[in-house]
Amino acid sequence: MKYRSCSCGALRPSDAGSEATLCGWVDSRRDHGGVIFIDLRDREGITQIVFRPEEHPAVAGQSHGLRSEDVITVTGVVAPRLAGTENTKLATGGVEVVATALTVLNKAEVLPFPIDSKVSNEDLRLEYRYLDLRRPEMAANLRLRHRVIKTIRDVMDGEGFLEIETPILSKSTPEGARDFLVPSRLTPGAFYALPQAPQQYKQLLMVAGVEKYFQIARCFRDEDLRADRQPEFTQLDVEASFTSEEEIFGLIERLLATVFKVARGVELAPPFPRLTWLAAMNRYGSDKPDTRFGVEINDLADVFATTEFKVFRGALDTGGVVKAINAKGFAGITTGQINELTQVAQQYGAKGLAFIKVEGGEWKSPIVKFFTDDEKAALTERLGIEEGDLILFGGDKWDVVCEVLGRVRLRVAEMQRLVADPRQLNFLWVTEFPLLAWSAEENKWNAVHHPFTRPLATDLEKLESGDLHHVRAVAYDVVLNGVEVGGGSLRIHEADLQAKMFSILGVTEEQQKTLFGHLLKAFRFGAPPHGGIALGLDRLVMLIAGADSIRDVIAFPKNNRGQELLTSSPSTVDPRQLRELSMQSTKKP
Ligand code: AMO
Ligand code: AMP
Repeated sequence: MKYRSCSCGALRPSDAGSEATLCGWVDSRRDHGGVIFIDLRDREGITQIVFRPEEHPAVAGQSHGLRSEDVITVTGVVAPRLAGTENTKLATGGVEVVATALTVLNKAEVLPFPIDSKVSNEDLRLEYRYLDLRRPEMAANLRLRHRVIKTIRDVMDGEGFLEIETPILSKSTPEGARDFLVPSRLTPGAFYALPQAPQQYKQLLMVAGVEKYFQIARCFRDEDLRADRQPEFTQLDVEASFTSEEEIFGLIERLLATVFKVARGVELAPPFPRLTWLAAMNRYGSDKPDTRFGVEINDLADVFATTEFKVFRGALDTGGVVKAINAKGFAGITTGQINELTQVAQQYGAKGLAFIKVEGGEWKSPIVKFFTDDEKAALTERLGIEEGDLILFGGDKWDVVCEVLGRVRLRVAEMQRLVADPRQLNFLWVTEFPLLAWSAEENKWNAVHHPFTRPLATDLEKLESGDLHHVRAVAYDVVLNGVEVGGGSLRIHEADLQAKMFSILGVTEEQQKTLFGHLLKAFRFGAPPHGGIALGLDRLVMLIAGADSIRDVIAFPKNNRGQELLTSSPSTVDPRQLRELSMQSTKKP
């Protein structure tokens, strides 16, 4: 038996007179003085069904029992809609189907929320995700995601890359985030870890001679969650041998150009601009700058070299910096907005946020009384100060000022609505990340990207001499509109250099053997030079869809407490299951 002759998106005026059988959900039902109209919805669209009591009384009678979201099949005759009653918003808006038969395939109870509007309670949406996904907007996101993944596979195949799966039950190694662990029944007391990324396996595939690998890879990280972070997410993971940074940039630019062409119909214009990490921090106060607007950060150390203003003096005398942004035309900022910006600054470690409003030819500010005429002239020139401007200052350690003014800059852009065109796409490569970052908390060096990232050849000497702060890495991120869409690096392929890197990171020789012995051993059997990248697929699809959260492009995401509300996971398990695993929980949830 065939359920239907066509979809709810298929019929056009040229089909008038033919018979059609459609299936789907009752989207809405309207009673116009005995004539019943139903919008019937399936994934391809909506078709209007008409029940005419004078022509088909029995079927019309049946239609009275229909409720929203009942699943039905209808047979009828396609008719053009009367002039003036067409719906130009629907592809099928020129026709209706006059019902001659109706079968209710399944009834729906009253829904916890209507399908046709977005419910603000996200937990409720997640609990009834199968209803939330019926909304055309969410259905479109799932389709878009499919289209993006399909395009990625086609492009990578065309570029000669092999898709290879790597284990989900893998080994716990200290790499950055916290691991999710899986107890082993067959080796009591031992654990698998779910992969944070297929990093080591893809490098081992290079040692295996695969040369070009990719995978649509599920990754697991037990981190605190945000709108653009999930504990379980998907990467396009890529690795290649005998490659260069240039080749990887070129590959990813070609890939993204095709993806955006297919999924959004826009032409990107590679090559993407590039900025070193240091320049990005100095100009935008961020390693993922949003370059859709200016409001760049300016250094003022020379302007205030002999300043008497104690905040700036103190910063410069203790090895810090003084920097400022000019929010053009924002002198009309309200006191409430100034307070909000000051709060942002304080949240990121500033002690205050000095400002100047240029209004009525006057500099209105609690601090200008400390400035000399020369300083004012130099400041005017450096920041291009004009009537109507708002200047915001930071004086502190370099990293604090960068972070603070970077965050203030973003908030100012929101307040001033500086992104005029929401369709604008500003891609950017950020290059030459630092290799290492000192953690005062842990009293040790950590890898900025991961321990397998290659130092810049010109900085190897600094690695030897212990000038670790200034060693740069051949590591890069691809950024879109201020979101880190992907990151990668060229890798260490020499066992000795890798061992040295581990030592710097405080991994003892013993730990190197137990945790990374497989990799160090593999590097002794002919490891080719290699490198790669991983793109956050959820983030990419979110940006293409114009969604606010990656949860809107994942079918069954977790909420910000790490719970999957539809099935109520995580959940307790039968004590017998724990006994089999030689485990016992010390807590009741
Ligand atoms: P990295 O840790 O930078 O690199 O991850 C690559 C990209 O994955 C995305 N991403 C996430 N997306 C959603 N939720 C998360 N919790 C999350 N964490 C990361 C980001 C990020 O840019 N193995 C290396 C790549 C390499 O060196 O080749 C890696 O995983 O978009
Ligand atoms: P104070 O003398 O501490 O009241 O500060 C004078 C002005 O400088 C106030 O507007 C403060 O918000 C601002 N200010 C204080 N500390 C800093 C800082 N580290 N960077 C920028 N402005 C600051």
